Amino acid sequence: MKPERGPEELISAMTIHNRVKEMGQMITKDYQGERPILLGLLKGSFIFMADLCRSIDLDTDVDFMEVTSYGTQQTSSGIVRIVKDLTESITDRHVILVEDIIDTGLTLNHIIGSIQLKKPASLKVAALLVKYKKHNLQYPIEYMGFEIEDRFVVGYGMDASHHFRNLPWIGTLDSEQSVRG
Ligand code: PRP
Repeated sequence: MKPERGPEELISAMTIHNRVKEMGQMITKDYQGERPILLGLLKGSFIFMADLCRSIDLDTDVDFMEVTSYGTQQTSSGIVRIVKDLTESITDRHVILVEDIIDTGLTLNHIIGSIQLKKPASLKVAALLVKYKKHNLQYPIEYMGFEIEDRFVVGYGMDASHHFRNLPWIGTLDSEQSVRG
């Protein structure tokens, strides 16, 4: 069900645009002479992925996995399910994992383990949002957009019960009216 009240703006479209451009410039510098593959985690990363790849001035490849840990709950179920796996081989490739948000870190910890089993040449993480001090990550985040407080965020790809993904900015919802899914 769609929350009754709409989200309040937390990060504007222009601020996101500028930061994603900077992240793309960093990746361009770090991967000179390489052809990295951007690996987006669906669904939440689809807009960030589209903007990030266009901010990188290199020949890049893209692929997607779909994972979910929230179901229809606001808090993670603790079980990460792969709904859609990679379609390309990433063995000996330079992989950049693209995430919209790192909340508990559970998804990333789980997925990185399974990606490493495929023996990429290198693996780095680009995350637009990281919840400040909340996550329990076992891996560094090389490219981070914004650190945020522990608020429920929607927009720019992120949803609440399948609503708000197409907002061009990032907003917050009161926790009692927000359900991830
Ligand atoms: C969200 C988000 C991340 C994950 C982060 O996905 O896109 O993948 O949760 O949370 P964590 O750090 O606590 O694991 P979600 O399961 O809501 O699926 P979606 O991307 O399809 O909306």
